[in-house]
Amino acid sequence: MKNLAVAGTGYVGLSCGTCFADMGNQVTFIDISEEKINMLCEGRVPIFEPGLSEMLERNIKAGRIHFTMNYAEALANADYVFICVGTPSGVDGEADLQYVRMAAESVAQNMHRYLVVVNKSTVPVGTGDWVADIIHRSQPTPIPFDVVSCPEFTREGSAIYDFMNPDRVVLGSHNPDAAEKVAQLHLALRTRIVITDIRTAEMIKYASNAFLATKISFINEIAAICEKLGADVQEVAVGMGYDKRIGSAFLNAGLGYGGSCFPKDVKALEHMALVHGSHPSLLRAVIDINRDARRWAVFNLRDMVDGKLHNKRIGILGLAFKPNTDDIRESPALDIARMLQNEGAHVYGYDPVAMGNVTRINNELHLAEDPYDLAEGSDALLICTEWNEFKQLDLLRIKSLMAQPNIVDGRNIYEPRLMHNMGFDYRAVGRGVRFTNGN
Ligand SMILES: NC(=O)c1ccc[n+]([C@@H]2O[C@H](COP(=O)([O-])OP(=O)(O)OC[C@H]3O[C@@H](n4cnc5c(N)ncnc54)[C@H](O)[C@@H]3O)[C@@H](O)[C@H]2O)c1
Repeated sequence: MKNLAVAGTGYVGLSCGTCFADMGNQVTFIDISEEKINMLCEGRVPIFEPGLSEMLERNIKAGRIHFTMNYAEALANADYVFICVGTPSGVDGEADLQYVRMAAESVAQNMHRYLVVVNKSTVPVGTGDWVADIIHRSQPTPIPFDVVSCPEFTREGSAIYDFMNPDRVVLGSHNPDAAEKVAQLHLALRTRIVITDIRTAEMIKYASNAFLATKISFINEIAAICEKLGADVQEVAVGMGYDKRIGSAFLNAGLGYGGSCFPKDVKALEHMALVHGSHPSLLRAVIDINRDARRWAVFNLRDMVDGKLHNKRIGILGLAFKPNTDDIRESPALDIARMLQNEGAHVYGYDPVAMGNVTRINNELHLAEDPYDLAEGSDALLICTEWNEFKQLDLLRIKSLMAQPNIVDGRNIYEPRLMHNMGFDYRAVGRGVRFTNGN
């Protein structure tokens, strides 16, 4: 059993800290958000992440989890502190490190014995050294510590499963003994542990996310060509994916990537490359194609409603950036909603779990009670998030409620032939196969 402090109770901090507690460790969470700490102390979970609330409750009952806003209290018995604070995009696409700096300063000012400072936030290459420097400069009296980079690879929506079943754990430090200490914490996971230097560990995270984003943009580029040439990108992806050198993951054509990681991480890597005199042309193309995927939806909706979105009612099914999460950061749905509103459309939306978050940031988006309420009077529907519940809708009922039977399927969840046979004007991403009546 080890004592861990976890700074940041967001998607990463809360999930990984709770998993560490479930593995038998004592975990104290620290956050600067009073609202979040109060909620957690009252037994409420501020985010939606499958399996998290049950695991949290179990470990709180077992006395292995505590919450505080006070660093001194959290670090009192800690052997490790995990930094899991946000690193949003700055003005030029660079990572904004203000929260990491604040966390490092607070750690420095409140530590009173040797600590392993583990950085889980996604940070630019070189940040580990910068954090060490901040801690050195901010300590009232010198106390030894080591910084270890331990980037997080879990996905929102399956963070608990991913944490407990990782493909690998990556650790980087100037001090191999400190990396070894963090490796010990992960031994129960029985996974491959890659130990390297700190900059390489930081780069592995960016390179991994950029590669996955590239796969998404690659298949979206192929989808655009399929549409022109009458091929079906879904079948193309299946045919490609069986090749072990390629693999089937992240080959789903659609509205592109969103969320709190890929968009900002690809931009941050591009920015790092530019600043250091490199020419990241592939990353730029990945970003461009991702932007085009959202425009594709607007183009098709406009085309379906006779070339003018003004005064047309458009319903968006799915507002979270992907299924099984309430996270709407960089969600394609919200970006597309804005573009439609700019052209004068009346935009409505529905999401099984993300509507609370939407209300907080976009007052202009009208929210519907359920998919049928959304369909009522709509000139077109757009599928933005592939929630399972959208896959089994009563589509004939949906059609009977709509003002015009137009569906743009931005996530390819329906079968073009069935939709055509039901009488929809149906467009999907990269499914160039055309149907004529009676076919
Ligand atoms: N969301 C993911 O699935 C995911 C996956 C891999 C990596 N990451 C990376 O992990 C980091 C955290 O992401 P997230 O999605 O959990 O962020 P988040 O915005 O959900 O949570 C960050 C939390 O940190 C808190 N915080 C800010 N400053 C603090 C401080 N000084 N001390 C204590 N708490 C502080 C905030 O109040 C917030 O609760 C980011 O760098 C992100 O890129 C995220």
